[in-house]
Amino acid sequence: MSKLDVRSPEHCAAKQPHNSPHHHRHSFINSSNFWKLLSSLFSAILAVILLVWLVLRPSKPSFSLQQASVYSLSLSDSAPAAASFLNSSVQLTFIASNPNSRLGIYYDSLRVYASYQGQQITGLASFPPFYQDHGEKNLLSASLTGSNLPVSPYFGSEVASDQVSGKLTVRFEVDGRVRYKVGTWVSGKYRMNVECITAMDFGRGLPTGPLTSQQGGLCSTKL
Ligand SMILES: *[C@@H]1O[C@H](CO)[C@@H](O)[C@H](O)[C@H]1NC(C)=O
Repeated sequence: MSKLDVRSPEHCAAKQPHNSPHHHRHSFINSSNFWKLLSSLFSAILAVILLVWLVLRPSKPSFSLQQASVYSLSLSDSAPAAASFLNSSVQLTFIASNPNSRLGIYYDSLRVYASYQGQQITGLASFPPFYQDHGEKNLLSASLTGSNLPVSPYFGSEVASDQVSGKLTVRFEVDGRVRYKVGTWVSGKYRMNVECITAMDFGRGLPTGPLTSQQGGLCSTKL
C-alpha cells in the first residue's frame, strides 16, 4: 500500500493547493475552456444530426413473403439416433420494400436460407447488391438447395409428425447490410436480420407435389 492510500480525505484536500503550482492551474483552466468549447460544438453538431434524423424518421426496410414452395426434402437412411443427411430444394419469392419517403436504401449484401425446427435445411443464396428508391418495392426470388446437410436424428420423425398435423412450418432467415441515402449523403452500414415464418399445407404431400405456402408469411426485420 502506498502512503497516499492511508491518508484521510481531509489530509489530501488540505494538501492540494500546495501540491499544484499556480501556472499549472492556470493552463489547466485554459485547456478546460477549450474542451468545453469543443464539447459544446460537438453536442451542437450531434443535436443537428439528431434533428435531421428525427425529421427524416428512417424506418427499417420491410419484408414479406410472397410465395414459398418446398419441392423436395429427402433424408438419407441412417441408423436410429445417428445424424441424417438431407437433400432439399426450396423456392422462395419475397418482397423487400422501402417504407421511407425521403430516404433511399442500398442493400449491399443479402443472403437467405431456409430452416426447419431450428435447423438449416438449405444452403445460402445471395442476391447482387441493389439500390431501392423512396417507397420502392422489389421482388426477390431465390432457389435454395441443400445437399448432404447434416440434420438431427429426430428430423425425420419431426417431419412425419408435421405431416400428420398437416402443416409444415418453415422459416427463412435473411441477413444483409444496408446503408441509407439522404440526398447525396450516404450513411454507414447497418447489419440487418430478417426472419420470415410460413406454414405450408401438406395436402397430397411430398414427394408427389411441392408444399406451397397458402398466404404469404410474416416477416420481422431487426436492424
Ligand atoms: C443427396 O444428393 C447426393 C448427390 O448430390 C446423393 O449422393 C445422395 O444420395 C443424396 N441423398 C439423398 C438422401 O437423397
